[in-house]
Amino acid sequence: MSFLKEIKRRRTFGIISHPDAGKTTLTEKLLLFGGAIQEAGAVKNNKIKKGATSDFMEIERQRGISVATSVLAFIYKDKKINILDTPGHKDFAEDTFRTLTAVDSVIVVIDVAKGVEEQTEKLVEVCRMRKIPMIVFINKMDREGKDAFDLLDEVEQKLGLRVTPLSFPIGMGYDFKGIYNIYGKKINLFSGDNKQTVSAGVEFTDISTPELDGIIGGKAAETLREELELVTEVYPDFNKEEYLNGDLQPVFFGSALNNFGVKELLDCFIEIAPTPQPKKSEERLIDSKEEKLTGFVFKIHANMDPNHRNRLAFIKIVSGTFKRNAPYLHVRLNKKMKFSSPNAFFAEKKEIVDESFPGDIVGIQDTGNFKIGDTLTEGENLNFKGIPSFSPEHFRYVNNADPLKSKQLYKGLDQLMDEGVAQLFTLDLNGRKIIGTVGALQYEVIQYRLEHEYGAKCSYENLPVHKACWVEPQDPKNEEFKEFKRVKQRFLAKDKQGQLVFLADSSFTIQMTQSKYPSVKLHFTSEFN
Ligand code: G4P
Repeated sequence: MSFLKEIKRRRTFGIISHPDAGKTTLTEKLLLFGGAIQEAGAVKNNKIKKGATSDFMEIERQRGISVATSVLAFIYKDKKINILDTPGHKDFAEDTFRTLTAVDSVIVVIDVAKGVEEQTEKLVEVCRMRKIPMIVFINKMDREGKDAFDLLDEVEQKLGLRVTPLSFPIGMGYDFKGIYNIYGKKINLFSGDNKQTVSAGVEFTDISTPELDGIIGGKAAETLREELELVTEVYPDFNKEEYLNGDLQPVFFGSALNNFGVKELLDCFIEIAPTPQPKKSEERLIDSKEEKLTGFVFKIHANMDPNHRNRLAFIKIVSGTFKRNAPYLHVRLNKKMKFSSPNAFFAEKKEIVDESFPGDIVGIQDTGNFKIGDTLTEGENLNFKGIPSFSPEHFRYVNNADPLKSKQLYKGLDQLMDEGVAQLFTLDLNGRKIIGTVGALQYEVIQYRLEHEYGAKCSYENLPVHKACWVEPQDPKNEEFKEFKRVKQRFLAKDKQGQLVFLADSSFTIQMTQSKYPSVKLHFTSEFN
């Protein structure tokens, strides 16, 4: 198959949701369609158990296992589909943000009864900012939930999306009969009472036909006609261009558990979802069709087994063909490297491959050469953008608890930060180290891993910081900035890249600071230009 054909058949995406909305179940059903797994439950077993907040070893163990599910690839109707797994656990939200830098589109799963939840809001906001094309899947239609129109309103309001339904439910909960596939102009109904079997789709280009009454009953048919009329009146027509630009979000209804509405979603997805997209680097825009290889590391997975300390770096191929044993430039280290056993992912297995194409993810065994954001090329000096750090939510001083092991401690901290486990800040005033994390769980993970992998011990001290703000002075030489630095000296630190960060103790402080020093911009992410 030609290089261009390989690109055209790839769809690389992520599924995002609030925990429990049905992300794992949907992923599994998609894999079943692709024939990639034989039975339901295969993906689920790898899932980080919800609520297991204190049992971090269990979580890490499962994270270890979940290497295999980090990328789930399968072929459906000749399309190569790469699903990038995003952890649902909120303490690993940062992992999810980073994974979003490697997807070309996303599917957002929403629970019909719970509506838009907190985690969904945060993740969708990131996708919206990056203009990532999104499809919304409203799940659990077999349960009683919110009215479809109310829910569409909520999605528009809370998520700031402009939606257009491409399927519509016929009833809900106990009365859920099936869905009308607006995109495919078909009706799909459950057959039997147990809602486990799906009858073949019936073509219905004209829903005014009395045949419909015979199939779903007069009342349901009447309601459906009214609702579809309202859909046509209220919502914009689907337009692929707008969807691809991130300006319009198609919505599907269904029940992942019952495998209902999933095939419609997948069939539409492979038609409309974007092929591997161009990506901005600091130097220029890279098109996926360029023949020379470029790619970047978006995730690093540590091996929890202390006997096998190596890590797996996940590289998203942006352009060109990745070839086994070919020499590539590791741009940050300015070093040529060859990879003799790159892994590709297929369903839940990984295997060594000779070639990978744009859109694909390659896993590389790493002994400490890679950190998140690193770029590989065939010689060009490129640096991909868009892997920002977000302000952590928890902050603690880290102290060395074994003075004889300070070298090990710093090496350990350094490598764990490169993996993106947490963020390290160094206070300007006295050089003390501060670890910032998204969830409290990471502190335990870090302490455990420092001890078991690096032989170092640490203790923590709480620090009342509300948010880390990256500082951007309009003019680093002006008096206002100098005064800001003098007055806020005690709260200034450097992140790992040496960028200046203001550790604010409350949102009030941020507001006050911003109004007192208007020429000093405070940002909640490390990348702002
Ligand atoms: P997540 O990955 O987004 O966290 O969600 P997950 O797929 O694990 O689903 C969360 C719960 O919701 C699971 O139930 C799952 O079976 C259920 N679920 C998913 N899709 C549907 C659906 O369409 N309808 C209904 N009624 N339930 C659905 P659980 O009891 O927490 O887990 P389990 O015991 O079933 O594994």
